[in-house]
Amino acid sequence: MALDPPPQVKVIRSTHKRLRDEFSECKDFSKVWKKHCSDNQGLKKYSEAMYELATDVWGTKCDGKDRTTWCKDTVKEYFHKGKLEEILEKDKRRQEYYEQNKDNFFIKNPNESTKTASFVPKIDEKIPTQNAQTASNLRKIYEKVRLLDVGSCYNPFHDIEDFETTAVDITPANKQVYQCDFLTVDISAANQSNGPDFDAENARKITALPKNHFNVVVFSLLLSYIPCPHARFQMCEKAHKVLTTNGLLLIITPDSSHQNKHASNMKKWKAEIEDIGFCRVKYEKDKHLHLIAFRKIPSNFIIDKRSGQNTKLEKLLNIPQDFNNTVDNTCL
Ligand SMILES: C[S@@+](CC[C@H](N)C(=O)[O-])C[C@H]1O[C@@H](n2cnc3c(N)ncnc32)[C@H](O)[C@@H]1O
Repeated sequence: MALDPPPQVKVIRSTHKRLRDEFSECKDFSKVWKKHCSDNQGLKKYSEAMYELATDVWGTKCDGKDRTTWCKDTVKEYFHKGKLEEILEKDKRRQEYYEQNKDNFFIKNPNESTKTASFVPKIDEKIPTQNAQTASNLRKIYEKVRLLDVGSCYNPFHDIEDFETTAVDITPANKQVYQCDFLTVDISAANQSNGPDFDAENARKITALPKNHFNVVVFSLLLSYIPCPHARFQMCEKAHKVLTTNGLLLIITPDSSHQNKHASNMKKWKAEIEDIGFCRVKYEKDKHLHLIAFRKIPSNFIIDKRSGQNTKLEKLLNIPQDFNNTVDNTCL
């Protein structure tokens, strides 16, 4: 017999459902979102429920994988334990292969100099070599990993020494988290040394995030909060803007079904997100979650034509609850 979910889960599920119902009725997402963001009482109730769930009731485990530990291990494995080095080596080998077999590849995110109408470089055009790096070099470059946790709620990454964390949320649950709506926040010009811009009257409110600045962006249980499939996609586009090349977008999204049930939807997510300029580097299905890591690929990235990545996509990220006939059996 299924146990009744804790009251905090009911608050969260009913908020998500209300947002989805309002969006399905009115179709104008910006109107629905504006109304939602002005409901201070409702936002506070949600934030308190999520904070209690994540710190007392479930912990970060959500009755399965500890999502904070997964993010921490994935980031360290990638930047500090050789995974990025391995990937850069592979890029270099692909480039050498490309030089001899140009017809089998196309160029993603071409630089102005290599851009052609068909996305394919001229036959004698050389693609600049990606710099392969040694693990110790990378360890130095990424000694402090700049991590942006979007929809952080309470900043679960606050005590991880190797990270310089910026935690943001529309409704921060504590003082470590900045107020910021990632859907509407401005992106400022590339700026390696300084961080975000703050509101002149409210030092806890972020008004702009710097372009090409963060090494990691985390969306943990964030996308399923957003009722509009295109707005979910736009969040990933924005993550791409604020990430440095080779940076990671970590997405954790709830799904308590068997791995195969929504496998085709996850395949669609992979294609949609890769189309922005990412490449998936890790995927796990836990009892209640999908845990995915995408790398922001460099410009002039060489792609094998057989990967099927040259097709036109919809710029939508659907979740099963978008479809009326789906029973919501997620952990949230
Ligand atoms: C389900 S909670 C997840 C909290 C935390 N990341 C975790 O894994 O426990 C989703 C959070 O995303 C926040 N959120 C939703 N839309 C947002 C947006 N556009 N910008 C910033 N935060 C947002 C909500 O306020 C909420 O705290």
